[in-house]
Amino acid sequence: MAKSNFDVKELLSKMTLQEKIGQLIQLNAVFFGQTTAEITGPAERWKLATKEVYNMGSVLNFHGAEEMKRIQDDYMAKNRHGIPLVFMMDVIHGYKTIFPIPLALGASFDPELVKECTRMAAKEASAAGVQLTFTPMVDYARDARWGRVLETCGEDPMLNGIMGAAQVEAFQGDDISDHNNLATCVKHFAAYGGAEAGRDYNTVEISERLLREYYLPAYKACIDAGTKMVMPSFNSLNGVPSVANKWLMNDVLRKEWGFDGVVISDYNAVGELVKHGIAADMKEAAKLALEGGCDIEMMSISYYEHIPALIEEGIITEEQIDASVLKVLEFKKELGLFEDPYHGADEEKAAALCLSPEHREIVRRAAEQCAVLLKNNGVLPFSKDIKTIALIGPFADNNQIRGFWACDGKDEDCVTIADGIKALLPDVKVIVERGCSEKIDELDKSGFKAAVKAAKKADAVVLCLGEFQKYAGEGNSRIDIGLTGVQQELANEVLAVNDNASVVLFNGRPLALVELDEKAPAILDMFFPGTEGGNAVARLLFGDANPCGKVTMSFPKAVGQCPIYYNHPMTGRPKTKPENEHQGYASSYIGCGNLPLYPFGHGLSYSNFVYESLELDTDTLMADGEINVKITVKNDSNVAGKEVVQLYMRDLVASTVRPIQSLIGFEKIDLAAGETKTVTFKVTEPMLRFYDANCNFISEPGEFTISTGHADNLLLTKSFVLK
Ligand code: NOJ
Repeated sequence: MAKSNFDVKELLSKMTLQEKIGQLIQLNAVFFGQTTAEITGPAERWKLATKEVYNMGSVLNFHGAEEMKRIQDDYMAKNRHGIPLVFMMDVIHGYKTIFPIPLALGASFDPELVKECTRMAAKEASAAGVQLTFTPMVDYARDARWGRVLETCGEDPMLNGIMGAAQVEAFQGDDISDHNNLATCVKHFAAYGGAEAGRDYNTVEISERLLREYYLPAYKACIDAGTKMVMPSFNSLNGVPSVANKWLMNDVLRKEWGFDGVVISDYNAVGELVKHGIAADMKEAAKLALEGGCDIEMMSISYYEHIPALIEEGIITEEQIDASVLKVLEFKKELGLFEDPYHGADEEKAAALCLSPEHREIVRRAAEQCAVLLKNNGVLPFSKDIKTIALIGPFADNNQIRGFWACDGKDEDCVTIADGIKALLPDVKVIVERGCSEKIDELDKSGFKAAVKAAKKADAVVLCLGEFQKYAGEGNSRIDIGLTGVQQELANEVLAVNDNASVVLFNGRPLALVELDEKAPAILDMFFPGTEGGNAVARLLFGDANPCGKVTMSFPKAVGQCPIYYNHPMTGRPKTKPENEHQGYASSYIGCGNLPLYPFGHGLSYSNFVYESLELDTDTLMADGEINVKITVKNDSNVAGKEVVQLYMRDLVASTVRPIQSLIGFEKIDLAAGETKTVTFKVTEPMLRFYDANCNFISEPGEFTISTGHADNLLLTKSFVLK
């Protein structure tokens, strides 16, 4: 793409202070008067004059290319300098053709698949007028009560970073002025996922060591991948809300990591500094956010109202403002907006791409690759030689399976399980009985009778259960993370009458499923699979696709175990008694074991993968050397499949307490029936580093172990010494 020679410095020199400040404000599209939507929330109170609106710099949320062009044309005609707006939206797991939620993408352990889905979303969204997406969200999360775990890739810092960087690369490509690319904004910096008690927006208090070891690496990976923007998190981190956190935003992000792009607040987060009680009023909020290095204020206007007085009083300087405005103008220039303010947006192109057969095929494949087979006693895959199948439960013919943050995706475009099975097996009789609701407070059991009757006479039963798609996502924390409503009771009655049954789950977080696990012959977790969910389910249940996803966030046995995560530190009193027994004066619960129901890395397949050997080419690692680790896996079955080979490390003695396991490598491999493959990983000294008590990132000589195998049973372990 040709780059504009436009001189942004010269433009800046011609702008009044108020015009400059406008570039630092982001408003919802409704403010620009070209839509019929109404302004709600705190924005209602702002009485912005039309003249003022035409100074503002960027737009949040709008509907499609046509509306975008209308807003842009009108704006540029009225803005004194004809500066283009930049249009931003949350394209999280697809624009219109929706792929699985990020928690499910994590389970694929497949960065190439993530890139493929992301490229597809980039094409649809850019054609529809989006120029920047508030993605990737790489908040490290351990607490399944938090509704936003659906936007994360789970509890491993390395995996989060790899998946986040893959999205940055795939959205941005080599050049964000290319009309098929979007700029990205990594969020929510930092540690939003550490919300106390899993309650959204809640306080985060964690040590710097913990922050650096688990929470920061994924944001850093996205900065290194070249993301153009950063969004500070809503929460306070060790007492200071991120948008005003000078240490986080200036010392870490800018000085230590060298980020020189734009920082944008989260929605009204500057205004919320008053509610946090660290700013007395909006003027002080503006001052604190500016000191924290926040360039653009999203959906509050403290900058617009108070910066002039702050400059006049000598509290901030106009040079500070100029520096932020210059960054915003440079960003618009890099997007090529001074040449093409539409950035190639085109209604017809968008219509041809969105929900096209090619895009549907990509998201169907993704839904298959992200599904996790949590349990299987052998009933799956079902035989296609059946005459009748009963689909029972609230998700049997329910199209609400796209998940929160589905951007322009619509329920009515989603394929239900009933649709998928009917399409795959047109000669099989499909009986649908929802039986009950998936909503927490809808407890009607009058549908049970018909459900049990249908289950009795069917050759196979699919129990389609889960949580309502609006129970996971922003602002949706749950206190109890079991199946909602009376679904477990429905499952109990149905499973009692037919053994040839499998559960299919839809969920935006790990659920506590002990009773279901005890009773169900098989459980296939689809998370929220997106537009093609039903087709993917059908293919997985009947063996046209082989499950290969692995859990990336531990499924607890009970909510009281939360936060629960595989890479937790060793304790001084580890439990040694069997899992189900309480052990006094040891780290143990009364009434529940310590282990999760399904650990990180767990996921079954229709193939049988046997870990045959783990070989190290040396048992001594020199600081500048490497160890070649060879893992041999055999597919001891007659079904081709994919296996995620995982490599874990443990540092046996160190100056700070180390995790019981840390993932240091993974590779997803294809294995034909009967095939054996050897995967090689290189282990080097930097992979063994950690933060010591003074937050120095170091490794310490001594003994380490390396393990591999199925996650709940890391059968193969070898040790080596770092010299
Ligand atoms: C609030 C959310 O926290 C953030 O993730 C999102 O990008 C903004 N709203 C804009 O929609």
